[in-house]
Amino acid sequence: MSLSTHTSEIPDKSVGHGQGHPVVRPEHAARMAVLRESLRAELAGFLPETARIVLEVGCGHGHFLTAYAQAHPDRTCIGIDINIERVRRGEKKRQRARLPNLHFIRAEALFFLEVLPERIGCSEVFVLFPDPWPKKRHHKNRIMRGPFLDAIARRSTPGMLLHFRTDYAPYFEEVVETLEADSHWNCSLDAPWGFDFATIFQQKAERFQSLTAVRR
Ligand SMILES: C[S@@+](CC[C@H](N)C(=O)[O-])C[C@H]1O[C@@H](n2cnc3c(N)ncnc32)[C@H](O)[C@@H]1O
Repeated sequence: MSLSTHTSEIPDKSVGHGQGHPVVRPEHAARMAVLRESLRAELAGFLPETARIVLEVGCGHGHFLTAYAQAHPDRTCIGIDINIERVRRGEKKRQRARLPNLHFIRAEALFFLEVLPERIGCSEVFVLFPDPWPKKRHHKNRIMRGPFLDAIARRSTPGMLLHFRTDYAPYFEEVVETLEADSHWNCSLDAPWGFDFATIFQQKAERFQSLTAVRR
């Protein structure tokens, strides 16, 4: 696996505004095209012709997905994270465990979903202890919001499972409200959890809440 950079960049320096509309500067567009191509090539190196993948977003050091992939050798499991050091540690675990069905990629979630080939869908998605962004002005950075949920919905068929766990109660409440208002999902607070294996952040949490949303 190459640990190249597949992050969608913070656009401040590359995006201007003309007549109220964002204008993407050519150098930013060119850099994004290079990153897109590089991620496409990395994915082409291991993805089968068609597949429904198990995706973990913000996989950290990869403990959870390594255990999951060990328990489900017939499922293609991909963990993505924007932090390269965490992805490197996940990759070491993958090598030690010799799991051909497991892949860790450094990528930003929305960018990854944009580049993932159309023929590939998700059967199950885990978002475990995502950054809570507690300050109001940062709430827009929370991953479990419209753009990400829409991108996941586009990659899924009825019955697909989206598992979310957090120790930050206000974030949990926001996600419940968002999912209940979203026609793509049936949100359940007492559905059986997809796979029990404590992540690093779960081990540190005093308490946490979980939900599973089922694609309608
Ligand atoms: C609080 S940590 C939780 C890590 C792990 N899930 C756990 O429970 O131990 C959140 C992780 O999400 C990653 N992350 C944050 N925003 C992301 C994004 N937009 N795309 C991919 N990864 C992201 C961070 O780099 C970090 O590793």
